[in-house]
Amino acid sequence: MVNIRKGAQLRATAATVVERVVGEGRSLDVALAEASVAETERPLLRMLCYGTIRHHWRLRWQLASLLDRSLKSRDAVIESLLAVGLFQLDHSRVPDHAAVSMTVEAARILRRPQYAGLINAVLRNFRRKSPGTPSNEEAELNHPQWLIDLLRKDWPDEWRSIVDANNERAAMFLRVNARHTTAADYAELLQLSDAAPGATSVPGIDQALRLEHPVDVDQLPGFRDGWVSVQDAAAQIAAPWLLAGGGVRILDACAAPGGKTGHLLELAADGVALTAIDRDEARLRDVADNLRRLRLDATLVCADASNPGGWWDGQAFDGILLDAPCSATGVIRRHPDIRLLRRESDIAPLARLQQDILTALWPLLAPGGRLLYVTCSVLQEENDSVVQAFVERHQDAVEIPVLPNYNIRDLMRRKTCGFQILTGSGGMDGFYFACLEKHPGKH
Ligand SMILES: C[S@@+](CC[C@H](N)C(=O)[O-])C[C@H]1O[C@@H](n2cnc3c(N)ncnc32)[C@H](O)[C@@H]1O
Repeated sequence: MVNIRKGAQLRATAATVVERVVGEGRSLDVALAEASVAETERPLLRMLCYGTIRHHWRLRWQLASLLDRSLKSRDAVIESLLAVGLFQLDHSRVPDHAAVSMTVEAARILRRPQYAGLINAVLRNFRRKSPGTPSNEEAELNHPQWLIDLLRKDWPDEWRSIVDANNERAAMFLRVNARHTTAADYAELLQLSDAAPGATSVPGIDQALRLEHPVDVDQLPGFRDGWVSVQDAAAQIAAPWLLAGGGVRILDACAAPGGKTGHLLELAADGVALTAIDRDEARLRDVADNLRRLRLDATLVCADASNPGGWWDGQAFDGILLDAPCSATGVIRRHPDIRLLRRESDIAPLARLQQDILTALWPLLAPGGRLLYVTCSVLQEENDSVVQAFVERHQDAVEIPVLPNYNIRDLMRRKTCGFQILTGSGGMDGFYFACLEKHPGKH
């Protein structure tokens, strides 16, 4: 039997979380972590909040079409509660009458009993009326207009497929620790243990497995002992690419939370020394936790990559991974709040920061060494444009237009400099990669 009171409490909490993202600009994961709720209720709270944020523009448009003027004196939490209410009617298995009752009751818990009648009417109307077709692009495509415009400009032929992919939920990918076993053997183990039957390999990305359905990491055999990590397949392209350049001193310049740091160490030959830096102390602790789980070791430094004077010991690195801070427009499927939190005006400062870090790190690279520039952005201004401008200004920088593995060629789009994976291509996140080599003799 449905417990209306308990369900109402959860919906009231969900409305508060959603409002903290929409109204206050908090990150969804932070707002969820701050919500006080029983651990057993967390998955449902997460599903309601992620879903409501993922469908934000469409839900707000539906809401506007259902509301008359009565909510003109806007109450933001009630709008968020209504959005949660509409989302659950379409996406949860709770019977309609219970979902409506819980949402109405949630208004009372939020100390807004005066909205009970309105909520009841809006949700019942939503079920009765067909939603129609949105007359504006934001609602139709469920994206802010500035992002639609930028994607259309950068990707005239592909923008629509990027937008559609952003509205989907991403698949779960694993990275099998090459020090323990192979992806094929781990897939068999998943099958035998019934943890995640039907895991499939990803052509050209050797340690990656794609799961049919997401699973809790604690169900994965050996997870606590570092046999396997959760990481999108596109992110797994970076480490082997950088290590193909050889060398023993490697820098992971923007390392937290340590996904690529772990992969680099899993693949590195004995004797390779890895320094991992990040300027965010709390996030750097996540790197330490990850490495502890993987039983691997690196020198961790909390530092600003754009100011090596403060932390560099003067010995050149043979390889540098620069997984630069970016708009994260390639991982919207996993972090749907990015569309709400990012502003168009963020992009130019991010591109300047990327250029600054790249420029500051270049002198740390040994002659003949490689720097792999990576972002999880699909925007030209943070990717190709940054690398092109850098190469033009640095006589000794040569972009290497060769992929590390022939089998990933179909996934990668060649840009003037570097390669782009578009969101959804091969089921993966959107990522950009450019490999630069230092050739002091180049003129
Ligand atoms: C895209 S994330 C890195 C993801 C990571 N490489 C992984 O695979 O898990 C970018 C990181 O850059 C860090 N960062 C941003 N600006 C920085 C700077 N100036 N110096 C060092 N780290 C910085 C952020 O704290 C963030 O952890």
